[in-house]
Amino acid sequence: MSDTIVTTGALYVRHARAADRGTWSVERDVDWKAIDARTALAQPDILAKLRDAALIESFHPVNLSRLIRLNWDDIDAGVVFSLEMFEGFKHFHALRLYLDAVGYEPPITDDDLRSIRARAERGDLDPADPMTPLVEFMLSEHLAAYFFRRLSEQAREPQLAAMLELIAADEVRHAQSASDLIAKRLAANPELKSDVLRAATAFKHYGTEAVGDVPVAMEGDDVAIRTFAARIERLCGMRIVDHLKTAMEM
Ligand SMILES: [Fe+2]
Ligand SMILES: [Fe+2]
Repeated sequence: MSDTIVTTGALYVRHARAADRGTWSVERDVDWKAIDARTALAQPDILAKLRDAALIESFHPVNLSRLIRLNWDDIDAGVVFSLEMFEGFKHFHALRLYLDAVGYEPPITDDDLRSIRARAERGDLDPADPMTPLVEFMLSEHLAAYFFRRLSEQAREPQLAAMLELIAADEVRHAQSASDLIAKRLAANPELKSDVLRAATAFKHYGTEAVGDVPVAMEGDDVAIRTFAARIERLCGMRIVDHLKTAMEM
């Protein structure tokens, strides 16, 4: 039976398998009873960032439904966005439960979640420019991975540090899945590389639509910036700076 799965060769089979291997349980893999609220509350800056991160994760139904509609004919993309929808929900759920468990104020309410969605652009994405939202998605996931990893390193409350590590690992996988989708498009249509480079230089984190300023890892995080550029260069075979030079010469 498993041989049949291995030989299909579809990208989504690989993504589904990676998701299966990386899966973790909000209920069982976080020791909720062991949370040290006093230690957590002693780092209010971290908890404020967690609250923003939870709001951004809660925004996925709006963000991903647009991506799913635009990419309805790409079977692999449908799977990647479905996995993102579920795991993004898990991230939101775990972060909100954690903030409630330590008694962080203000608590996240359903009205908060609705008000973000009410402000959002709910129309369709531009079908003439399919690469920009894919690049934005990939780079947002890439930065989310660094954001959660750095926060995990800074968090002194052990349960939080462990949970953030699990979330960061999911985000690494999400960024890679998005990269695979882009690579597939570029293999079929290499001239789309210039669209990818353009989208990367004009990159805007999708979370800005949800919470305004996004608490991303980028600022001052040299590794996050270098690997951000490296992702694009690997896909396009061209450095972002060289693309900018060419664009300025034109
Ligand atoms: Fe997430
Ligand atoms: Fe994600």
